[in-house]
Amino acid sequence: MDHTPPATSKRDFLSLGDLSGAELAGLIDRAAVLAKRRADGVSDDKVLAGQSLALIFEKASTRTRVAFEVAGHELGAQVIFMSASASQLGRGEPMRDTARVISAYCHGVVIRTFAHERAAELARWAPVPVINGLTDTRHPCQLIADLLTVKQRRGSLRGLRYAWMGDGNNMAHSWIEAAGLLGLDLSLACPEGFRPDDDIVATARARQSALGAGNIEITAKPKDALQGVDVISTDVWTSMGQESDTEARARAFQGYCLDGALLGAAAPEALVLHCLPAHRGEEITDEVIEGAQSAVWQQAGNRLHAHKALLEALMGGGAWPQADDAA
Ligand code: CP
Ligand code: NVA
Repeated sequence: MDHTPPATSKRDFLSLGDLSGAELAGLIDRAAVLAKRRADGVSDDKVLAGQSLALIFEKASTRTRVAFEVAGHELGAQVIFMSASASQLGRGEPMRDTARVISAYCHGVVIRTFAHERAAELARWAPVPVINGLTDTRHPCQLIADLLTVKQRRGSLRGLRYAWMGDGNNMAHSWIEAAGLLGLDLSLACPEGFRPDDDIVATARARQSALGAGNIEITAKPKDALQGVDVISTDVWTSMGQESDTEARARAFQGYCLDGALLGAAAPEALVLHCLPAHRGEEITDEVIEGAQSAVWQQAGNRLHAHKALLEALMGGGAWPQADDAA
């Protein structure tokens, strides 16, 4: 029996660590160009014409699903959405079998699932690019959009201080990986017991040492993490798959609601980001998410441009996009 996955030269995007800092910066800049072109009414080049992209989703989604469907369509691809419950995956067909079958039809696959290892298993067995549309430990596509939003608003990612407030979850991990790749200063406020994964933090810090730039600090005091920062990100306290833990989490995260008082600790015009969906009155108040400092709607819209840049790079057949500068 052959249990060896096929050898291929394809590239996957399971975590930001699959990229160099320059490659991430190149995607952000390409996404900025695509955003501007779309706003100006310029149609995309159909670089994915004749290709098919499968979306395998084992968790709910609004933004990731719709943005990938529209991105694929606007680049000329056919996009096929598969929910686990309506496919044989939901009846236990192994991921490695699904990987080989889907790759016989499609030129790329986006997966949203629970264990990160499940996405990695798909990537090992699929001879086509696999994109992580969210796992329990990472949400890398979101970070391309988040960093694009900061760059659009502030002109550069450099010279800014970033904060994460809340759970040390998939989003926090992807922010930490971005800070490692780009040498960003990132302070995280996470309650004891909800801190990010030590290995992910250690890898990002090692990258920062090699770069000679950036810093990652973790505290349990939200006000300390937010002091004077330029960009604040937060997310739900209970991620998909953790619902049985909701009440305990609500207790643990008391004091972690991003309200006007906490926002006041940040720099005067600090940007507020949230990947959405948000639970108003839990991790963020209605006043803050709807306030002048909130960039969340631009951030959500940027998912489309981020996904296009990623699909072009992984499936478009051209060179990886170059960054205007290192960040
Ligand atoms: N931010 C995000 O990934 O949203 P969805 O869960 O709606 O895709
Ligand atoms: N941390 C959240 C992000 C949703 C986009 C979750 O995994 O449910």
